[in-house]
Amino acid sequence: MASLALGSLPLLSLGLAGAAVVLLLQAAEDPAVTRGRELFDRSFHRADGLGTPEMNGDSCRACHSDPVLGGAGALELNVTRFGRDNNGLGPFVELPGGQGLSKLRPPHVTYREEAPMQADCFEQRQPPSLLGIGLIDSIPAAAIVANEDPNDLDGDGIRGVARRLTVQGVIEIGRFGWKAQIPTLHDFSHDALVQELGLTTPDDGRGFAIASDGDDIADPELNAVQVGNLTAFMASLPAPARAGSTDPMVALGQQVFTEIGCAKCHVPTLQGLGGPVPLFSDLLLHNVMAPGYRGMAEPGAGAGMFRTPPLWGIRDTAPYMHDGRAETLTAAILAHDGEAVAVRTNFQLRPQADRDALLRFLGDL
Ligand code: HEC
Ligand code: HEC
Repeated sequence: MASLALGSLPLLSLGLAGAAVVLLLQAAEDPAVTRGRELFDRSFHRADGLGTPEMNGDSCRACHSDPVLGGAGALELNVTRFGRDNNGLGPFVELPGGQGLSKLRPPHVTYREEAPMQADCFEQRQPPSLLGIGLIDSIPAAAIVANEDPNDLDGDGIRGVARRLTVQGVIEIGRFGWKAQIPTLHDFSHDALVQELGLTTPDDGRGFAIASDGDDIADPELNAVQVGNLTAFMASLPAPARAGSTDPMVALGQQVFTEIGCAKCHVPTLQGLGGPVPLFSDLLLHNVMAPGYRGMAEPGAGAGMFRTPPLWGIRDTAPYMHDGRAETLTAAILAHDGEAVAVRTNFQLRPQADRDALLRFLGDL
């Protein structure tokens, strides 16, 4: 039953002749959310402007639907980025056309065909869950910056830097995407429409829209109201609910999570405009990759720097890490290196019962 994002609606169940009839009394939903959901769920076609030069999917739903519309995506939905890092010696350079390597492209398009041939460095990216993303959007930049420790003044080996982006000449804090490369949810609507679906949107001057492309459909292919509706729908997605187990192992697991240092990066709550947001992230960039890692670099987010991913809803979003290389939560923990190596070692040294409890806690998020 489609009850997504209708958390506050009255739900009435009636038993009728053995069959359960569920009646959803739909309170007035913001029409922008309804229209935004339709856009998110819609399969676009060439006649709508899909693609050209390239695209990764024909709908938002194609990659964000696990376990519900707006959720995460499976391993085969990963998108790929590419560039050149001179066989690991550096410096990293972006090839013509940017880092995005499209999975799909409309027939007869040869744009950028030569660039991937010159690449020597690739990075896979998993589609993250968007549940609760409006609450993340509501966290003031100051609450993110407050946890930075770029010079490791407390000497715990963990740094954490905010992603700084220049938008219209002003520094803003990035918070969305694996490298915190996008400042606001609305900016991501523009970015995803053009980068994943190849749909043009009106240029609002912030630098995330592409207002015209090479196909024969009139630009922009979506209007500003539609982009706003898409943002409204994503902002309406409720945060993932805790499983809510009362097993004492879960509480013990949370204690272990804090004691061994997971909570230093996966900060349990940040203060949003509407109250505390229990996301289990500091929204800062950390390098938890093994030494020598080769991947995409951007100004302010070098190779190996990734935003601490929120852990709410993690029980439903396998596989894990930016590239989906960890199939299980245990594998995800063991994949931490770099700044998190001491914390990972703490985990490995804990008695089996503590490690089990930690996993029970993560499985409750
Ligand atoms: C082909 C798969 C694919 C499609 C189609 C797709 N996405 Fe995504 N989405 C991703 C991936 C992969 C990421 C992570 C990108 C990164 O950080 O490099 C992502 C990230 C996001 C994020 C940021 C999430 C966060 O927590 O930081 C938002 C918001 C988003 N997508 C919205 C959309 C919307 C809206 C659409 C439709 C216009 C869409 N996506 C279509 C794969 C997809
Ligand atoms: C130094 C900061 C830091 C510490 C400490 C840390 N993490 Fe992480 N964690 C990260 C970053 C950054 C990533 C993303 C890395 C990537 O995508 O390659 C991550 C990824 C994860 C993921 C995968 C999330 C997803 O959506 O794919 C899980 C689960 C996780 N961490 C749990 C833990 C646990 C449990 C601990 C304690 C044992 C811990 N982390 C300690 C920074 C940290």
